[in-house]
Amino acid sequence: MGGRELQGVRCQLQAFGGDASALRVEKFPSRTLAPGEVRVGMLFAPMNPADLNVIHGTYGELPELPTTIGNEGCGVVLDAGEGTGLDEGDMVMPLCGGTWTSEMVVSAEALVRLPEGIDPVQAAMLGVNPATAWLMLHGFRSLASGDWVVQNAANSGVGRAVIGFARQLGLRTLNVVRREELVEELLGLGADVVVTEELDLRAGVETLCGGKRPALALNAVGGASALNLANALADGGVHVTYGGMGRQPLKVPNGLLIFRGLEFRGFWLRRWRESAPLPEVRALYEKLAGLLRTGVFSTPVGRIYPLTEVADALAAAASGGVGGKVMLDLSCAGSVADGRIAP
Ligand SMILES: NC(=O)c1ccc[n+]([C@@H]2O[C@H](COP(=O)([O-])OP(=O)(O)OC[C@H]3O[C@@H](n4cnc5c(N)ncnc54)[C@H](OP(=O)(O)O)[C@@H]3O)[C@@H](O)[C@H]2O)c1
Repeated sequence: MGGRELQGVRCQLQAFGGDASALRVEKFPSRTLAPGEVRVGMLFAPMNPADLNVIHGTYGELPELPTTIGNEGCGVVLDAGEGTGLDEGDMVMPLCGGTWTSEMVVSAEALVRLPEGIDPVQAAMLGVNPATAWLMLHGFRSLASGDWVVQNAANSGVGRAVIGFARQLGLRTLNVVRREELVEELLGLGADVVVTEELDLRAGVETLCGGKRPALALNAVGGASALNLANALADGGVHVTYGGMGRQPLKVPNGLLIFRGLEFRGFWLRRWRESAPLPEVRALYEKLAGLLRTGVFSTPVGRIYPLTEVADALAAAASGGVGGKVMLDLSCAGSVADGRIAP
């Protein structure tokens, strides 16, 4: 490293394929700030399904390697130049990737200041799932108070945000989960109806939804589960696919399009982030941060690993069995020596 002081620690993805050994935790030199830039000491970042797909090389768009991985997180301002509008100690979330690192130097424009008192672990998950939930509820169909939305993977980060926002907006939710024990938990969060995925919604949806049918379906699973949602929709309803957790393709009977007039759409947050004007992006995150702070939604955390234990964190996230999000603690960088994880 040419005699420069090594200060940051980051997780670099070196090859696709899903092998944890392709994740190298290494030191890197801090650099001086250019005008308009801010140094952020990163605190936490989640391991999202999209991160796993990037590591496996199966995501919709792949970065050039090696790359510092991680799509969202939060941190605290360590050093801010004049005119950046930020002060040392401000809690911020970056609007750019490369978050699995102890330190980021970014343009102030690419940072959203978070309100005081916000939980940093929850704030680290503000960038992707809540925004996806909010935009899907607002972007496809004009929904009025009392309208129903049906979703699968209702226990996911996105699903829980959908439940919280729907409640705020006066919408009703019909939620599909794959584990019975989640039913009571999601009802406690404000879900109107929760069913397990074995239930065929075709016949019973009107009974479940007080005589109505949902106008919007949010699908993160695919396959039979996606079709179950489509069958529940009202004529002319919109079916939005935003994830493929079940790894099964969408198979749609012709009649749902011809006779029922259903519309099948897709959603990708990255497309919105790249095309929406920056003030609109910032305004949404400021709004979502306020909703997070007032408890409108939250995401359960399964386990928090120091960045140096990223391989264990990856195994836990891939197993899906830790009862909530796997998080990385980015402030614990101590056990890295000479660019390698200490034995
Ligand atoms: N398009 C976009 O812009 C966008 C943005 C955000 C998220 N997403 C996608 O949305 C999905 C959810 O993300 P997240 O971070 O909210 O998830 P998460 O909190 O990590 O939870 C994963 C969810 O998927 C469910 N699941 C896992 N495997 C499944 C399977 N084979 N069949 C049915 N359900 C399964 C889990 O059910 P259990 O609780 O029973 O384990 C859990 O509810 C992912 O596919 C993610 O890539 C897309």
